[in-house]
Amino acid sequence: PSICVLISGNGSNLQAMIDAIATGKLEAKIACVISNRRDAYGLVRAEAADIPAHCLEHTAFPDRDSYDKALMKLIDKYKPDCIALAGFMRILTDDFVNHYAGKMFNIHPSLLPKYKGLHTHRQALENGDQEHGVSVHFVTPELDGGPVVIQSRVPVFIEDTEEELAARVQEQERQIYPLVLQWFCKGRLVMRENEAIMDHQRL
Ligand code: GRF
Repeated sequence: PSICVLISGNGSNLQAMIDAIATGKLEAKIACVISNRRDAYGLVRAEAADIPAHCLEHTAFPDRDSYDKALMKLIDKYKPDCIALAGFMRILTDDFVNHYAGKMFNIHPSLLPKYKGLHTHRQALENGDQEHGVSVHFVTPELDGGPVVIQSRVPVFIEDTEEELAARVQEQERQIYPLVLQWFCKGRLVMRENEAIMDHQRL
C-alpha cells in the first residue's frame, strides 16, 4: 500500500512514518510528500529519504477550491491507497475531503472532541487540565470532527510551558500515527457510517 503525506512544516510525523517503514513496523510505501509551504523542513526529510517531494503553494491560487483541485490532481497521479495529513495547516474543501472518504487521516494534538482547531496546548494549560493528548482520526468534512481511531494521553504538570507540553504530546504522536497507518494498510481498519471500525473482517 502507498501513502501520500501532506505537510506544512517540520515533518516530525512524516519522519516517524519514514522510520517506521525502515524498521518494518509500517508495511507501506510513501508515494509522495506534498507541502503547501516551500520552507517546510519536511520537504528536506522527504528528499533525504528519496521520496518524491512537491511544493504546491496555496499562494499561487486565487481561491481554496482551485487549490484543492490542483492538489487532488497531483495526489491522484500517484494513486495512493491512503492520505495522511501530518501538520498540514489548511482547511480542506468538502469536495476534497469527500474524494478521499474513508482513506484520509489527520493527527490532532488534543483529546478530541476537546480543543478542535489551533493552540490546543495553550488551551489545555489555561484551563488547568490535568491531562492532555493527541488523537488520530479519519477526516470528514467537519473540521477535526471525523471518527477518532486512537488517542494517547499525557499528564500536564503545573510548571509546564507550552513547549514542554507540546514536546510530550509529540513524543506520543510519533508512536500512534504509524500504528494507525499500519492498521489501515493491513486492512484492519475502516470507516463505516462515520465510525472507525477495527478488525471488522474478524468479527
Ligand atoms: C503536530 O503537533 C500535529 O499534531 C499537528 O501539527 C503538528 C505537526 O508537526 N497537526 P510535524 O510537522 O509533524 O512535526
